[in-house]
Amino acid sequence: MSASENGPENSPENRGWKPGKRDAFFLAFVAAVVIFLTMSGERTTKPTPNDATHQQAAALKTIAACMACHSADGIHPQPKRHTKTQQCFQCHIEPEISVGAK
Ligand code: HEC
Ligand code: HEC
Repeated sequence: MSASENGPENSPENRGWKPGKRDAFFLAFVAAVVIFLTMSGERTTKPTPNDATHQQAAALKTIAACMACHSADGIHPQPKRHTKTQQCFQCHIEPEISVGAK
């Protein structure tokens, strides 16, 4: 017999656990907190400029389109120590796509 068989996970009350009303309330509460935190997160990172250059680049939907100008040897490099993450619009708000979108 292993030690865990006598642990609290296996106490009689916990055997055959089924979600009850209180668990549902708890889950609803957790979901509400998560939703609140996601929705209230205001982005303070600089938005992607909403000019023709950036609208066109955004419409291409590839990181290469951005990095052509924003890599270390581009015309406007990302700052040193900038994240290597590729999802630019997770942080820099996406320009309104009106040019070359279709
Ligand atoms: C043709 C070159 C070029 C391409 C392609 C390009 N950018 Fe830029 N980007 C610039 C230049 C130049 C600036 C700085 C001057 C300005 O604000 O337009 C800039 C500025 C920015 C800034 C900083 C804005 C600020 O307020 O300082 C962000 C963020 C940015 N670009 C993100 C992107 C993203 C994301 C993409 C890909 C969808 C992209 N850029 C594609 C040239 C480019
Ligand atoms: C994890 C968040 C994050 C992601 C993803 C991200 N960046 Fe940034 N970026 C920042 C932060 C923070 C700064 C610092 C300046 C600021 O507040 O915008 C910055 C700065 C920049 C700047 C310099 C802005 C200036 O001051 O002129 C450029 C250009 C830029 N990012 C381009 C990009 C591109 C292109 C991508 C996608 C390949 C990208 N970033 C992805 C967080 C991010």
